[in-house]
Amino acid sequence: DKGVYPYYMLKEVDEQAIVTRTLSQYYFDDENNIQNIDTKIIDAMKAADRLYIVAAGTSYHAGLVGKRYFEQWAKIPTEVHISSEFAYDQPMLSQKPFFIFLSQSGETADSREVLDNITKQGYPTLTIANVMNSTLTREADFALPLLAGPEIAVASTKAYTAQISVEAILAHAIGHSELDLKLELAKVAVEMQVIIDQKEDFKAIAESALSGQRSAFYIGRGLDAAVAVEAALKLKEISYIQTEGFAAGELKHGTISLIEEGTPVFALLTQAKTAGLVRGEIAQVAARGANTIVIATKELAKAGDAYILPEVNELLMPLLEVIPAQLIAYYATLDRGLDVDRPRNLAKSVTVQ
Ligand code: M6R
Repeated sequence: DKGVYPYYMLKEVDEQAIVTRTLSQYYFDDENNIQNIDTKIIDAMKAADRLYIVAAGTSYHAGLVGKRYFEQWAKIPTEVHISSEFAYDQPMLSQKPFFIFLSQSGETADSREVLDNITKQGYPTLTIANVMNSTLTREADFALPLLAGPEIAVASTKAYTAQISVEAILAHAIGHSELDLKLELAKVAVEMQVIIDQKEDFKAIAESALSGQRSAFYIGRGLDAAVAVEAALKLKEISYIQTEGFAAGELKHGTISLIEEGTPVFALLTQAKTAGLVRGEIAQVAARGANTIVIATKELAKAGDAYILPEVNELLMPLLEVIPAQLIAYYATLDRGLDVDRPRNLAKSVTVQ
């Protein structure tokens, strides 16, 4: 039930702070120890020499973020693959692979096909899904829940942030990161709420930057590039504005020729190491007439930036920076008079290959 909300998507965006809190309470006990993750999962992952994350759409994008946690905290090399590609073009595998399937529905046919293939090859598998008791959770060796509650809108929002949180928790459980992740996730939940409460800012940004536009771009580097592809998918999927999300350094290798007077270019700026480079890229598109909309953390922000993000641990910033993108997509779609929850040609769960 949508309750007071005009659309499920807005309700689901709003629920992200609660879901993050729920996950940290479920996966950590009062003494900050990991709970509710079978030690068999941890042992199987520790025994692997490489992790393969397999997913589609937004879940694939959550995998791009999770890769960093598994590599930096768990110290296990990690590859992220699109299910529909992996299914018919299986890459060469390492000696001891471990497979992670990410899915909201647990029913995505492309991912099921890969799980089938991998099971036949005898490799260990884990599904992280929102719908437990789905095909992907039943047929994998292990399963972990996203606890996001039903996600009804076709555009996935809370499942994405829940997937990122569970990947972080799992990587943290395997590794020996000094980070107090339980505390960090509690901070994330608080700051998510701060962003959610500033909805009107994103409505204004969406209306001024995207009204009447036919195309848009999201750019960033590192984790911000990973979020840029998700931000672009969200916007194009429901507003039908053709949007590309990509690594900012790639602009000069081709895409910059698309920039015209007034083209909206959203820049995500949360990673200190590359902030100077991204600033340069923002200046380059601005010099060619782009309307640049910068979403930056306080530390990296400059006068004139469109929105200042609250700050949490840099690796966890995707959990915050995606929310402006979700809300900008929502308001741009409303502005066009379209059905936010049910974009044309799409189904919530893609059960055909
Ligand atoms: O249920 P799944 O997470 O496996 O679904 C994967 C994609 O179909 C899904 O994320 C899709 O890309 C969303 N509509 C994006 O908002």
